[in-house]
Amino acid sequence: MSADPAADPFSDPTAGPAQLANRLAKVQKERRRWAPSVGATCWRIYEKDLPDQPLIVDWYDGVAVVWLLDRTRNETEADEERWAGEVLAAVQRGLKLAAEHVFVKRRRRQKDRQEGGQYQRTGDAGVERIVTEAGLRFMVNCSDYLDTGLFLDHRPLRARVRADARDRRVLNLFAYTGSFTVHARAGGARATTTVDLSNTYLTWAERNLALNGFAPDDQHTIVRADCLRWLTEAKPAAYDLIVCDPPAFSNSTAMRDSFAVDRDHGRLLAACRRLLAPGGTLWFSCNLRGFTLTTPPPGLVVEDCSAWTVPADFRNRKIHQCWRLTAGS
Ligand SMILES: C[S@@+](CC[C@H](N)C(=O)[O-])C[C@H]1O[C@@H](n2cnc3c(N)ncnc32)[C@H](O)[C@@H]1O
Repeated sequence: MSADPAADPFSDPTAGPAQLANRLAKVQKERRRWAPSVGATCWRIYEKDLPDQPLIVDWYDGVAVVWLLDRTRNETEADEERWAGEVLAAVQRGLKLAAEHVFVKRRRRQKDRQEGGQYQRTGDAGVERIVTEAGLRFMVNCSDYLDTGLFLDHRPLRARVRADARDRRVLNLFAYTGSFTVHARAGGARATTTVDLSNTYLTWAERNLALNGFAPDDQHTIVRADCLRWLTEAKPAAYDLIVCDPPAFSNSTAMRDSFAVDRDHGRLLAACRRLLAPGGTLWFSCNLRGFTLTTPPPGLVVEDCSAWTVPADFRNRKIHQCWRLTAGS
């Protein structure tokens, strides 16, 4: 008599749950060997590796954060719930985790994001963890937002910013939880300016800075502002290194106009260019699928760096695109 798959979803080793669990276990073993090379306790384990298991699994130092993606089949809600249950069981089994250490999220559709959904709270359990990247510490929140507070795909660019920051004046635009600023300060930046629209994320950025022994002062400021507006009012040629990693779309009530990166990147980059000192570098990153950099400002040398800014633990080599724009000296 064959085992009942409803009672034990792993009874059939060729079925989705067993394959997913095996895949997670295998990749996690590889990641554990690789992670010391980047000094990280957080990494991506799984991203749509198996065709019938469209999900993402990230590891944050002892917990798994799982994003369920849309399945192509026209499913009922009950089917979706059953699948979510199977995924939870497979992640627990593959990564040897208790259920309370697995956080399952559902990516909302673009429409919700355009209404500001991506940066809103999704819960209030307050499950926080400290993770490490290149010897620096970051607070992540596994339970309350769609994103955790640390975008893993920018690990290589953060390392590069740190390596280039010594004695530089660094501007971090759309700073979110300030991870680029933490790296810039660790790299010996002379001054940093961290700009974001959200008080929540700026408070989080201050916590991340404090975790690494840094506090705001005259040279290192945190500014709550609409970047588009702030850029037009800031002093020209004041920065040697600018990181500009905007969301694909933003339309907060605190903004004068909505922002869409495909439509507005020309004026955003021109405004950044005005603030760049001679010989300075502007890093521009975009995670909008299919984005084309159509209007780089004149007078900057443009280099596509996406091949190395996407880290080795990401299967999706198009998770973001990233350019280095350099001003002549
Ligand atoms: C994609 S995240 C940026 C990620 C960040 N660069 C990082 O790597 O950690 C988007 C951030 O942009 C902020 N934001 C959105 N629109 C903004 C605006 N017009 N001005 C300033 N910040 C904005 C949000 O509050 C959020 O923190």
